[in-house]
Amino acid sequence: MDTTEVATRLAAVCDLIEEHRKSGAPICATRAAAISAMIDDVAAAAATGGTRIDSGACSYEEVDGDDELGVGLSGLVVRARLRATGEDVAVKSLHADPGCGGGGIGRLLREACFMVACGGHPSLVALRGVAMDNGGHSLVMDYVGPNLLDVLRARGRRRPFPEADARRVMRQLLAGAVEMHRHGIVHRDIKPENVLVAATGCGGVVKICDLGSAKSTAERSPPADIAGTMEYMAPEVLARSACGHGVPADAWSLGCVMAELLTGEPPFRGEDQADQLREIFDVLGAPEESVWEAMRPRLSAVLASEVKQWRARQRQVRHRSRLREVIPGEVLSDEGFEVLKGLLTCDPEKRMTAAAALRCAWFADEVEEDARVPAAATSSAGCAMSLAITA
Ligand SMILES: Nc1ncnc2c1ncn2[C@@H]1O[C@H](COP(=O)(O)OP(=O)(O)OP(=O)(O)O)[C@@H](O)[C@H]1O
Ligand SMILES: [Mg+2]
Repeated sequence: MDTTEVATRLAAVCDLIEEHRKSGAPICATRAAAISAMIDDVAAAAATGGTRIDSGACSYEEVDGDDELGVGLSGLVVRARLRATGEDVAVKSLHADPGCGGGGIGRLLREACFMVACGGHPSLVALRGVAMDNGGHSLVMDYVGPNLLDVLRARGRRRPFPEADARRVMRQLLAGAVEMHRHGIVHRDIKPENVLVAATGCGGVVKICDLGSAKSTAERSPPADIAGTMEYMAPEVLARSACGHGVPADAWSLGCVMAELLTGEPPFRGEDQADQLREIFDVLGAPEESVWEAMRPRLSAVLASEVKQWRARQRQVRHRSRLREVIPGEVLSDEGFEVLKGLLTCDPEKRMTAAAALRCAWFADEVEEDARVPAAATSSAGCAMSLAITA
């Protein structure tokens, strides 16, 4: 089945959900079931053996003890067990907030749709189904393990990942991004918290999760909101550019994650969005005027004039990119730096794509390395260790 068909079906579901959101009409159970059936079609089109959206097949039960995996703005993720098979799953449900209206369900169904469109790619969390319980909807996913932010924090700032581990992680994340982008899906919120590290059987395996902010490039009227997490937002997103939130925005976020794996911190940390842009330009240099104009920034007048001043000042001092000072040769080889520099390119038109990054020399000899993943780890703590000891 061809990619375009997946993208078209995906966009049709998203458009329907967006129409609901705009009209303010809540998505009733019958409509939700109809949307689920459409999502099932997306799954069938996307993959050989694609996920069936079947609420019966993913009936789950709670597990004893500390089952909370994450709490977000819109919902809660808990660990549970599939009744039929006893397998561990993670269940994402909406907060019981009547004020949510149809928006919350819409977001959850969109997320389901994006997940199935990627057809169980190994670098993306797999959806088992959408469950209906207590009158609400939940996403039932494979349980993976702790998120990468927790793993990074457990290592502490002084022990970021060695280059070989960073490369292994990046190879998988880039492959996941290629799969999403192939289907016209922009994740819009790639960051360590939205990357899961496999807890059992396969140390060093990571998967992208949380497609709750994603959009399809084929949607008629994609959500206009600015999505994402400031530290990982591309310049064009921060500048509220007309071209913001295209697939290059994900490539930028992946560059930020790569730098964080190597240094233990996100590379740019502003206090607000304007300051974030300033931090980026301070390291990379402000983009040329033509590039900036092409991005058609919609900044406030004050910030726009500030950017002009930074650029003039940088020209005076012949500012060049300081990225190599931030990530020096002891931390990252020239081959790795080629990937980092490519992803962290201000101009979205010139930014390296995820597919191009995977073709770089840095990844040329990793196939063998991937085959001998570290010994199986048996718990989430063990998993963190398994990534930690593969220097
Ligand atoms: N499949 C999974 N397996 C294990 N843990 C998971 C899984 N999915 C999510 N989690 C945990 O729950 C956390 C929150 O999940 P997620 O990022 O999907 O939701 P969120 O950020 O709360 O959602 P939203 O941004 O849509 O409000 C993750 O950071 C991770 O720690
Ligand atoms: Mg999240």
